[in-house]
Amino acid sequence: MQFKTIIEPFRIKSVEPIGLSTEEERVHYLKEAHYNPFLLRSKDVIIDFMTDSGTSAMSAHQWAGIMEGDEAYAGSRSWLRMENEVQDLTGMQHVLPTHQGRAGERIVYGHLGGPGKVFISNTHFDTTRANIEFSGATAIDIPIKENEDTALLHPFKGNMDTAELERLLKEHEGRMGAVILTVTNNSGGGQPVSMANAKEVSAICKRHGVLLMLDCCRVAENSWFVKHREEGMEKLSYREIAQRMFALADGAVMSAKKDAFANIGGFIAFRDGALAEACTNLLIITEGFSTYGGLAGRDMEAIAIGLEEVFDPHYLEYRIKSTAFLGDALNKMGVPLMLPIGGHAVYIDAKKLYPHIPPAQYPGQALVCELFRIGGIRSVEIGSVMFGTYAEDGSLKPARMELVRLAIPRRVYTQSHIEYVAEAFGEVMRHREQVKGLRIMKEPKFLRHFTAHFETL
Ligand code: F0G
Repeated sequence: MQFKTIIEPFRIKSVEPIGLSTEEERVHYLKEAHYNPFLLRSKDVIIDFMTDSGTSAMSAHQWAGIMEGDEAYAGSRSWLRMENEVQDLTGMQHVLPTHQGRAGERIVYGHLGGPGKVFISNTHFDTTRANIEFSGATAIDIPIKENEDTALLHPFKGNMDTAELERLLKEHEGRMGAVILTVTNNSGGGQPVSMANAKEVSAICKRHGVLLMLDCCRVAENSWFVKHREEGMEKLSYREIAQRMFALADGAVMSAKKDAFANIGGFIAFRDGALAEACTNLLIITEGFSTYGGLAGRDMEAIAIGLEEVFDPHYLEYRIKSTAFLGDALNKMGVPLMLPIGGHAVYIDAKKLYPHIPPAQYPGQALVCELFRIGGIRSVEIGSVMFGTYAEDGSLKPARMELVRLAIPRRVYTQSHIEYVAEAFGEVMRHREQVKGLRIMKEPKFLRHFTAHFETL
């Protein structure tokens, strides 16, 4: 018998209570937080879909590894285990531990970057872009054109535009820092990158003598899409698919807070020894010695185990299908979404949901507040609050899209939690015409979405 129900392929051994609240209490919490989800207390949140980063549930095996962690300053057993695991997965000999993804980005892109240098990606994640720009270099995003149309179906909407890559590499010859392929493409809607696209990008980079880096924090989720959507890939295991993708790159940066199920951690990997050596010097100055890089031995143990667990076919099947389960439920209700549903999150198109709220009144932020008011659900706006800038006359230059992300922590929520979220959207849809926008009352100069204060209109 073919079951329709996707069950969580794990049993719950340890639980964390969720603090339930009334709508009246949540209205008060929202006001206290100045309508900014980053200023809410997690104890007041019922379902936390703010991020899938560092929020995963570790397995009993990982927790056992935590107790086994070797906290030696140099040559820790846990480091050797993690190094071995990363070498096997990436096929890259030189591995550096870092405390999270952006620490690796700062080291690698700080070293390769600098004024006048250019980086090209399918889409730079914001910390990647920030580290590149902080070095004085320029970051250019070239997702395929299909990525812009949220409703358009395409199996690999995370792909890089290779014709544009060719053109840009000619234009910026001699100035290139690196090409970065982000798998899956988080800022572009959690959309996957195909093996064919990665191969083409790799061949172009080789021809131009440009370094290709993989931002691989969701590489296992990407492998699921490759296996199920790309011809010729169906017989390979998920791990083999990931290994083939790594084989196309010169180096990789990973935030282990995603597909390694760790609460903290990351790594850099390189084929080239000279590049690894330069980065090791930077690592030691700010992160830690090269056998721990800012991590505790126990964290490295958890990462090593997590990197094996994530390729379990039953887990990946559950992971991708349960994300799609939420997306499909919302799609059926007529909630405008970024389609097809990606691996780690469901993205709502707030511009289409609230056509009466102009970008300058932040439709995405209005939905974030609605979800919290209705169901205590915490999400994040990825639109003009996050990326909007001001024109010289003080008017808002809106972002390309007004999205809200529901990022799903790994192995944390059950199907009933997901059904609860879908039910909350029923109320969102019933109220959609009455919802009002917001205005910003106070904001910092950089990364305003983290700390800005809002007021409802
Ligand atoms: N690259 C990608 C594609 C990411 O999604 C993230 C983090 C990073 C790099 C940076 O890693 O947080 O360990 O320093 N994404 C989180 C998110 C924050 O919510 O999507 P980090």
